[in-house]
Amino acid sequence: MTYTEAKEKLAKYGQEHVLAYYDTLSDADKEALLFQIEDTDLSVLEVYSKRNEEVVKGKIEPLPSMELDEIEANKVEFYATGIDTIKAGKVAAVLLAGGMGTRLGSDNPKGMYDIGLTKEVYIFQRLIENLMDVVHMAGTWVHLFIMTSDKNNDATIGFLTEKNFFGYNPEYVHFFIQEMAPAVDRDGKIFMESPCKMSTSPNGNGGWFSSMAKAGLAAKAKELGIEWLNTFAVDNVLQRIADPVFVGATVKSGKTVGAKGVKKNAPDEKVGVICLENGHPSIVEYYELTDELMNTMNEKGEPAYSFGVILNYLFRLDELMEIADKKMPLHIVEKKISYMDENGETVKPESPNGYKFETLVLDMINLADSCLPFEVVRNREFAPIKNKTGIDSVESARALCLENGIEL
Ligand code: UTP
Repeated sequence: MTYTEAKEKLAKYGQEHVLAYYDTLSDADKEALLFQIEDTDLSVLEVYSKRNEEVVKGKIEPLPSMELDEIEANKVEFYATGIDTIKAGKVAAVLLAGGMGTRLGSDNPKGMYDIGLTKEVYIFQRLIENLMDVVHMAGTWVHLFIMTSDKNNDATIGFLTEKNFFGYNPEYVHFFIQEMAPAVDRDGKIFMESPCKMSTSPNGNGGWFSSMAKAGLAAKAKELGIEWLNTFAVDNVLQRIADPVFVGATVKSGKTVGAKGVKKNAPDEKVGVICLENGHPSIVEYYELTDELMNTMNEKGEPAYSFGVILNYLFRLDELMEIADKKMPLHIVEKKISYMDENGETVKPESPNGYKFETLVLDMINLADSCLPFEVVRNREFAPIKNKTGIDSVESARALCLENGIEL
């Protein structure tokens, strides 16, 4: 792309300041900047001007969850189906580890965070240990796909290699890199990371399957005979991965997606709740939940929209391949974004200072044909680490690990 073409592209979105340092750059840096401008999809910036518009939802109705008593009553049968499916190599795991973990505030990938008290216990280690439980039960390795981003790929691979994948078989581990999107300040102007680089951030966890497909790994999964992908977040250290009972219940239900979830601990708890939207499975974010929905009761006299998702989904590969190219809503999210100030110094803000643009995995549920919400015991399976202290923190996750007999 030439300088003039770059200028025109930026002008269309009011971002000419990106070229402010152009004349001072070396030839190589000029080329790098022009390439980045060419390569970056600036149309995401259109969402900035719509950030205050209300999201219009379709008709919302309850989608009942399979609850603990029903799961317990059918556990043997579900386990048998699940373990057979895993033994047959039809289930793989997908770890979403491309996020920046800005709330936790560590410069390293979140999975490298050590939650140990008397010994080293890394988040990645906890997840691999949990997956190893299933490997032992099934007597077979489970393929593990790991999504990283440009910002943390080398550190993630380097760390896992150095730790010998915490005992996992590296032949069953496959990495792929997600895409990036520009990050903007409060006025919608793209931050600069350096004079020759726009500041970009991972574009959310919703693009995981298209990134996996672009890397050739969806085709590879198909070739390997994989039929189900269990997608999960890096930050829940009690996460059960490729859980045979969950797999069995989803397979037997005939639904195309299984979604693990917990009963909300308060009507206003900040988790998305599962529902039907215009007859399709969907998730209403906590800030979209109206008082009317919050107070709607089911036939048991319990809140009808009380089942919060925990980012642990089982997707049917065939359906993912069909929906891969469908457009997903783009969300604008307030975050802490490091940037270069007018003196050329890097600033690492203490509180949110701008916006990132993200697609979200929860929006994939709405593209699916059907979904089985599957209840899990909160204290046994949900210990997310978003912050250092307080709610959903290193502290709360440590307490839950200890409660579950995990040595730290
Ligand atoms: P979060 O929504 O907690 O985002 O991610 P985050 O970026 O990790 O953390 P904060 O908000 O900056 O503190 C939920 C899951 O989705 C993954 C994360 O790695 C985590 O497993 N994720 C998030 C991605 O893989 N890519 C992204 O672009 C965003």
